[in-house]
Amino acid sequence: MRLRRSLFRLCLLAVGLSALAAPAAAQSVNRAAIDELNAQLLYVALPLALFVELTLVYAIYRFRDNDDPSPTVDDPALEITWTAATGAILVFVGISAFVVMANPYITPAAAQASTPDDAFADDHEVEVLAYQWGWEFSYPEANVTTEERLVIPANRNVTFRLQTADVIHAIYIPDLGIKQDIFPGRTLTARTHATEPGEYRLYCAELCGSGHSKMNATVVVKNQTAYDAWVENQTEVTGNQTAAVED
Ligand code: CUA
Repeated sequence: MRLRRSLFRLCLLAVGLSALAAPAAAQSVNRAAIDELNAQLLYVALPLALFVELTLVYAIYRFRDNDDPSPTVDDPALEITWTAATGAILVFVGISAFVVMANPYITPAAAQASTPDDAFADDHEVEVLAYQWGWEFSYPEANVTTEERLVIPANRNVTFRLQTADVIHAIYIPDLGIKQDIFPGRTLTARTHATEPGEYRLYCAELCGSGHSKMNATVVVKNQTAYDAWVENQTEVTGNQTAAVED
């Protein structure tokens, strides 16, 4: 009885801790989907891990002075139960992960291929060029180009057309939940819908030579008014040339 009560208390503690570990508000739709998946898997994994460890501790304690251990007896019902339970958990993990993978922000290329018309036609588009070693961002709607600084509007669908000038690079913006390899000779797609204006880090996530570690940039998410003002400013200042790094 006492053991059962302590087990119950431990489970409560675990649930409390996992609630504390729940992530803060996400900065993009992609990030929200990934965070939600992580939380879901945590809620499944935590009780299971507790159950296994507590069973182990219980068995060690309960049979500590057993000088004459008898061999395990077959128990088909128990074996079928744990096989089925494991199967059900794996199916749950598989389906949860698949739902997130199929999200048009996480895997935009697949989503685009499966729609007859261009589903992203209304997206704000940014052309991203990765090269050894840096980033160039072009905004076709505004006819502006920036280096090492990516500016996008908040609360709008943004599609990135990714190209590399030389070797394989990978665009990685952890806070926005974006990661995509960029292969030579192909145009790849990444997509997001940022929800929180702010500044985020962008990295290259593919070892691409001696300057790999220098290959980072800043992502600036601005609300629409600030974004429009920025575009206007860029166009005025530079006369449609490569823009200086400024807000
Ligand atoms: Cu580009 Cu590493």
